[in-house]
Amino acid sequence: MNGRSVRTAIPGPRSVELGKRRAAAVPTGVGVTLPVFIERASAGLLEDVDGNRLIDLGSGIAVTNVGNSAPAVVEAVREQAGLFTHTCFQVTPYEGYVAVCERLNELSPGSHDKRSFLVNSGAEAVENAVKIARYATGRDAVVAFDHGFHGRTLLAMSLTGKAMPYKRGFGPFAPEVYRAPYSDPFHDSGHLDDVIRHIETTVGASSVAGVIVEPIAGEGGFVVPEPGWLAGLAAWCADAGALLIVDEIQSGMGRTGAWFACEHEGVVPDLMTTAKSLGGGLPIGGITGRADLMEAVHRGGLGGTFGGNPLACAAALAVFEIIESQGLLARASRIGVSMTDRLQGLVDAEGPVGVVRGRGAMIAVELVGPGRTPDPAAAQRVATRCHEQGVLVLTAGTYGNVIRLLPPLTIPDDLLDEGLGILEGALKEG
Ligand SMILES: Cc1ncc(COP(=O)(O)O)c(C=O)c1O
Repeated sequence: MNGRSVRTAIPGPRSVELGKRRAAAVPTGVGVTLPVFIERASAGLLEDVDGNRLIDLGSGIAVTNVGNSAPAVVEAVREQAGLFTHTCFQVTPYEGYVAVCERLNELSPGSHDKRSFLVNSGAEAVENAVKIARYATGRDAVVAFDHGFHGRTLLAMSLTGKAMPYKRGFGPFAPEVYRAPYSDPFHDSGHLDDVIRHIETTVGASSVAGVIVEPIAGEGGFVVPEPGWLAGLAAWCADAGALLIVDEIQSGMGRTGAWFACEHEGVVPDLMTTAKSLGGGLPIGGITGRADLMEAVHRGGLGGTFGGNPLACAAALAVFEIIESQGLLARASRIGVSMTDRLQGLVDAEGPVGVVRGRGAMIAVELVGPGRTPDPAAAQRVATRCHEQGVLVLTAGTYGNVIRLLPPLTIPDDLLDEGLGILEGALKEG
């Protein structure tokens, strides 16, 4: 696949036709960012059914860090599919599952004894991390944060901080979930002392089973907490006998230039969740944690029919290998520098570009009006201009006023430059 190419209106006629079938077959509740139907994809390009080729700055929401249909992932899946496709690990195990857990245990922060197990999605990983935290501590309360997103199942949705579109009308929510402010340096809010006072006052330290936190708020708009905030939270958890659950589902697997984003803050989680890029496009999630906590649960208390499916495990093993052999941690850092250098000059106290922030290849632009008020309309305009020119960017943010960039870590430099140039132009138009 060669270069960006926009041959038709976006969406083109064949996508419009498929969109009609979609509308008759799939509920509107399953939203769509850009209604072009994809036929094939590579590292950094998506080709649609009308022959348009779009530059991919979204990676399927942080899933294809190693590129779409990465050859080593395709080969590993093909080989595994020819051997066996499913046994259920709890019925008769297989090596691939164990090997993925070994890699997660080895690469996740901390040199202590760890265990991992595998599920199908991020939400399922979150659900299980909370199950373990409650079981191991004998406590009920879970603290989550403003701007937090943890998935769409009942408990994960209850932990999520944004009502529209994720929660409205879907209650009642799971009990014993409490919310605290998240550190947001741009808006000067969520300072550590205030957060701790809030938790101690509204929940009580001795009731907290776990504190679940994203090291960078992903759906919340790539909000990076102030330096030391995450470490301070970890220290408070240790004192309170609460477990720190770090949700690395969006920020992990090399995205920020480290295997896991909490490493930048020197934080070692008690429990950690992964998914998204772990499977290089195949559905898989993981829960990794201190062996004493993970071994607390009785036999048969954890698992699921499809968790750690052999095809997804084969893909995940290929993903680990690609990140290492292609030096993608360093590449993520370099991509971050390119993106930040390119966009930083657009920051203007008068708006609309209020701040450029993030880590590694996880960079966002927050669009604001006077007094740093959120400007979601500007974000939508910028995204639409990019889409029309064949560049896929995603919006994010609790207020919908953020453009987030998550290019595949394998994207060629020329495609990244071209995509950023178009984004820059769209931002300048405001
Ligand atoms: C930080 C975080 N946690 C959990 C989830 C939920 O993952 P999934 O959509 O695979 O259930 C997401 C998805 O965007 C996420 O970004």
